[in-house]
This record gives sequence, C-alpha cells and structure tokens, in this order.
Amino acid sequence: MKVVLTGAGGGVGTIIRQMAPAHSGVQLTACSRQELNILDEDAVLQFISSQNPDYVINAAAFTNVDLAQAEPEAAYRLNSDCLEGMVKACRKAGAALIHLSTDYVFDGSKSAPYTEEDHPAPVNIYGASKLEGEQKVLTYPEGIVVRTSWVYSRYSRNFLAAIPGLLRSGSGPLYVDTIQVNSPTYGPDLVNALFLLMKNDIRSGLYHYTNSGGGCTRYDFACRIREKIVCKEPETRPVPVLPMQAETSAAAPRPAYSVMSPEKIGMLPGMKIPHWQEGIENLI
Ligand SMILES: NC(=O)c1ccc[n+]([C@@H]2O[C@H](COP(=O)([O-])OP(=O)(O)OC[C@H]3O[C@@H](n4cnc5c(N)ncnc54)[C@H](OP(=O)(O)O)[C@@H]3O)[C@@H](O)[C@H]2O)c1
Repeated sequence: MKVVLTGAGGGVGTIIRQMAPAHSGVQLTACSRQELNILDEDAVLQFISSQNPDYVINAAAFTNVDLAQAEPEAAYRLNSDCLEGMVKACRKAGAALIHLSTDYVFDGSKSAPYTEEDHPAPVNIYGASKLEGEQKVLTYPEGIVVRTSWVYSRYSRNFLAAIPGLLRSGSGPLYVDTIQVNSPTYGPDLVNALFLLMKNDIRSGLYHYTNSGGGCTRYDFACRIREKIVCKEPETRPVPVLPMQAETSAAAPRPAYSVMSPEKIGMLPGMKIPHWQEGIENLI
C-alpha cells in the first residue's frame, strides 16, 4: 500500500514517519513543508500523480489557534482553500485522502461527548477554517476526516508535551487551567488508528479518534504527570501543580467542553482506544 504524507515535519507527521516501518505492507513517502508546499496546487498535483498512492494523509495545517485569530486569511488558506487542490490531485490519482481535524469545530455547549452526528459550531477562526476544510474533503467520495484533540507525544509542540520539563525545571508552582475539559490523545495511538483505517480499506467518512477516559482538564493531566514523575524518578523534586481558574488572556476563545466520543471508530476490527493515562508513561 503506497501512502503519501504531507506535513511530515509536524508533531503528528513525525510520529507517522517513525511508526510506518513497523506496519508491514506500508510504503510511505513523507513530505515536509520544504519538500511539498501544499499551498502550491501545481506541485501537489504533480507530486501525487507521480507517486500514484493508495492513500494521502494530510497532517499539514495552520495549528496556532491564537495566531489564526490574528491571521484568518493565512489560516483559511492552509486549513481550507488548498484542500480543493489536494482533493483534485487525489481524485486524479485515485487515492483516498485522510485529513486530520479537530474538536475545536464544536462550541462546547454540550456536556456529554460529541459524536460525529453532532452539529459543529466553531467559536474561533482555527475551528471555523478546519470545519470548512473538512467539508471540502468530505465532498470527495474518497475523503476521510479524522477529528482528534489534545494530541500529546514527545514530538508535540504544545503545553501538554511541555509539562514534564516545566515540572522538573520550574522554580515555583506550575499553575494550570481547570476550565477547558477535553480528551487527551496519545499521538502513537492516533497514528495506529490511521494505519488501521487504511488496513481496513476505509475510504470515506467522518471519525473521532481520542483516547478513552476523556473529560479531563490540563490541570488533571499535569497532576497525573507529576505523580508519574514522583513514582519513576525518586531523585527528582517536581514543582507543585496548582489549579488556575481565571480565564487566560488567549486571543482566541476556546470551547469549554470538547470531549469527543471515539465509539464509531472503535467499532472497526482491531481498533484500540487506550485510556489517555496509558500514554503518559512514554512522556517521562
Ligand atoms: N496537536 C493537537 O493537539 C491537535 C489537536 C486537534 C487536531 N489536530 C490536527 O492534527 C493535524 C496535525 O497537527 P500537528 O499537531 O502535527 O501540527 P503541527 O505540529 O503544527 O504540524 C503542522 C505541520 O504542517 C506544516 N505546514 C505548514 N504549512 C505548510 C505548507 N504550506 N505545506 C506543507 N506543510 C505545511 C508545518 O510545517 P513546519 O514544521 O515547517 O512549520 C508542520 O510541520 C492538524 O490538522 C491539526 O489541526 C492536532
């Protein structure tokens, strides 16, 4: 099975590159931004045609939520507009397109996990641009959208991944948000799910993939990490974790609750949905 990956230099892209060799039968061609700029429609068409893949995985995106609020045109260009060219290229090559999206397509007004049937209503530009991108992919008969949330791994460039370092090297307590409730997702679990979609020959549809046990805050996550550090590294004295209830000064509003249900994807043969705490072992 031939697979082309775009956005290969990012957090999720890096994990896909690292895990691909363990998946027999997968022949991955991974392109960083330097190797394939997805804003260049001609280059995308030419490259995908030349590779003739079975699947294209798009892990490239404008992911800075606050910056998207300040630079909406750039966010829409990358998260939505250029997907028309990618769909065109996939259609010509007969490839299915797996596109990653986000829980931020929801407004957070629910208090039970969001399913694929729930109505999206983004509260910020990042979410709105990702939703528009989803719609472009899903109009393609071989388009697959996988929404995920709070992806963490050693390669992630986000607060969750930074917590172990902050706890080990901080000089005072680490104050962590208790307002946003979400589902953390261990990156390699998400990537295993993407490989399983391909192995099951899934070629269309909308899916949510997060770890189970969702409904936690960044504060809960930081507390679990601290417990693991105390347990695994008796010589380390991590700084205390304290709850921060005040709204942050972030430029973009966020949904207060965006836990998603992975029930639909979990019904696929062989699909595993581990608890989010299992992956923490690998961050420390
Ligand atoms: N991480 C999360 O918590 C999370 C949560 C929900 C959904 N998602 C979704 O998951 C996907 C992957 O996220 P991620 O965490 O891996 O993001 P990331 O670490 O920010 O990676 C995004 C990648 O896109 C690349 N890129 C930017 N512009 C490009 C262009 N014009 N052409 C080609 N590549 C370009 C970036 O290149 P540079 O390295 O050169 O900047 C970067 O490598 C995204 O669709 C995101 O919306 C992620």
